[in-house]
Amino acid sequence: MKVLEAEFVRGFIRMANDGWEQGWHERNGGNLSYRMKKEEVASVAEALDTNGPWQEIGTTVPKLAGEYFLVTGSGKFFRNVKEQPEDSLCIIQLDEKGEKYRICWGLTGGGRPTSELPSHLMNHEVKLEVTGGKHRVIYHAHTTNVIALTFVLPLKDEVFTRELWEMATECPVVFPDGIGVVGWMVPGGRDIAVATSQLMKKYDVAIWAHHGMFCSGEDFDQTFGLMHTVEKSAEILVKTRSMRPDKLQTITPQNFRDLAVDFHVELPERFLYEK
Ligand code: 13P
Ligand code: ZN
Repeated sequence: MKVLEAEFVRGFIRMANDGWEQGWHERNGGNLSYRMKKEEVASVAEALDTNGPWQEIGTTVPKLAGEYFLVTGSGKFFRNVKEQPEDSLCIIQLDEKGEKYRICWGLTGGGRPTSELPSHLMNHEVKLEVTGGKHRVIYHAHTTNVIALTFVLPLKDEVFTRELWEMATECPVVFPDGIGVVGWMVPGGRDIAVATSQLMKKYDVAIWAHHGMFCSGEDFDQTFGLMHTVEKSAEILVKTRSMRPDKLQTITPQNFRDLAVDFHVELPERFLYEK
């Protein structure tokens, strides 16, 4: 099968374009990666070139040895993914130690996978382990309202989780484990990848202060939906704070406990502190 005919590739392109239409991907902002299933690799095997040179990932991910990923290219614009997928995306394979990758398809105009490849792969490695292989999608977007909040809220997991939960009743059901926050760090390297992947052991969402967000999920729908829900909640918080600094009423800790019972989710008590 041709790569562009495969269902997982069509789903990837649709998600990238949805993110562009949301306004989360100015210029080359953001990146997306998908850990391919064995049968998906087999279905496009004839289109893959497995003779390219091995290149350093910049970190080691031994549990992902030999895995294949569909990834956005570094410096490529999400705006172009739908029109020029072969140039905007690539399929990479990891070596048997999880130290190097090689490009097997795509990036027809040249280039390399996203500069955030260390963060994507370290997040994939953690999620492979903690979800028993269910999670396959890692998504990084420059979500406007979440970024705005990182200038005015304390950069604490408890504060971001609680404030965003309060903004929409469904939020604690969509991300019951909460949200992690990484203080400002230089992007693109191993250090920020380590910090983010530590948070991904506990959460499906990690915020990078003054930069954006990472989400992890089982498939494109779940992962896009998670990013969308958190960012919409942040938009409501920005709006309420713009109208007045305090809230006249909100969802209370006891309201959350009641919700948890009916919706069969566990909400950690550390997010339900008295203010
Ligand atoms: P890339 O173009 O290398 O994917 O980088 C974009 C980005 O958002 C960096 O954090
Ligand atoms: Zn970024």
